[in-house]
Amino acid sequence: MKTLILKKDQIEQAANFIKKGELVSFPTETVYGLGADATNETAVKKVYAAKGRPSDNPLIVTVSSVEMVKKYVDHINDDAQKLIKAFWPGSLTMIFKLRPNVLSKAVTGGLNTAAFRFPQNQLTLDLITKAGVPIVGPSANTSGKPSPTTAQHVYHDLNGKIAAIIDDGPTTVGVESTVLDMSVKTPSILRPGAVTKDDIEAVIHQNVIDELHHVGTDQTPKAPGMKYKHYAPNAQVYIVDPEDSWLDVAKWIENHPQPVGVMAFDNVISSIDWPMNAQIVTLGSNSRTASRDLFADLREFDNHPEIKIIFTQGLKPSGIAEAYMNRLNKSAGQMHFKQL
Ligand code: TXA
Ligand code: MG
Repeated sequence: MKTLILKKDQIEQAANFIKKGELVSFPTETVYGLGADATNETAVKKVYAAKGRPSDNPLIVTVSSVEMVKKYVDHINDDAQKLIKAFWPGSLTMIFKLRPNVLSKAVTGGLNTAAFRFPQNQLTLDLITKAGVPIVGPSANTSGKPSPTTAQHVYHDLNGKIAAIIDDGPTTVGVESTVLDMSVKTPSILRPGAVTKDDIEAVIHQNVIDELHHVGTDQTPKAPGMKYKHYAPNAQVYIVDPEDSWLDVAKWIENHPQPVGVMAFDNVISSIDWPMNAQIVTLGSNSRTASRDLFADLREFDNHPEIKIIFTQGLKPSGIAEAYMNRLNKSAGQMHFKQL
């Protein structure tokens, strides 16, 4: 199969692929997704095959209207309605209890709930509306690799495995949406993203549980996807914590004559006289730019197989930096510079 790259005037063609049960990668504000008709079980199964995704990991259902959610969900409570008003379209995915037998097991992984997302990207909303059905939307990467933030990343992982990619340039948020479980008594964050605990609490005026994604490897996280090795480039990533000295990092690199990757803020990069073997990419200047660039930078180093070690800026996990650190910890397998 030849994978087509489609532009904004070719959404009709993309919608036809979806209607025919083919796979189309779509842009969102967070990362690129891998779309298939959520009501077509055969199409959904192709998504798992293309990504190499474990089949017990449920998929997000991506919609272009609240009406679409109501086809599958009986009751959207007051808090959820407030959150929809505040954050949709946007980076908050919400889990609701489903009506019985409305979505296939391939979508839900056998759960009686599903995660719904209304992304902020006009081309994708047009795609869903034209296709007339919600589309499943996991990130469009090979399972285990950093999520794709450009059409080129998707092409790299899935060329030949999917019908088309809608190219709308690089994504702006860069880390996947916040996943909030609204099917339980106290809303609970299963995956941190750009919409934070504080943002949510400010809208619903009640406490939100935010511990479930901080589990060790011996426990089963509630979002099944959080238990797998994730976001890993070919090189080993080491986190340089806020209290660590980048001068010590530079010294370490100088003492180890091999190409070493560095991902840091502009002010760190410009303040140090780096040894020749340091290969440096920027994370911009703050937690927003760091989140936007994290996956793209990790992928950049996969183009340089001679690099076996990458030192990456760690941040205090608050605001969007909580999502950033959540993904970085997984990429690094919890390894820190100070352990070296
Ligand atoms: O930003 C995003 O959310 C991107 C873009 C493409 O929309 N999509 C995305 O999908 O990140 P995915 O499949 O890679 O991540 C969905 C996460 C997984 O960790 C999955 O286990 C969890 O949400 N999830 C999905 N349905 C669930 C459910 N019913 N209960 C608990 N967790 C669920
Ligand atoms: Mg993913």
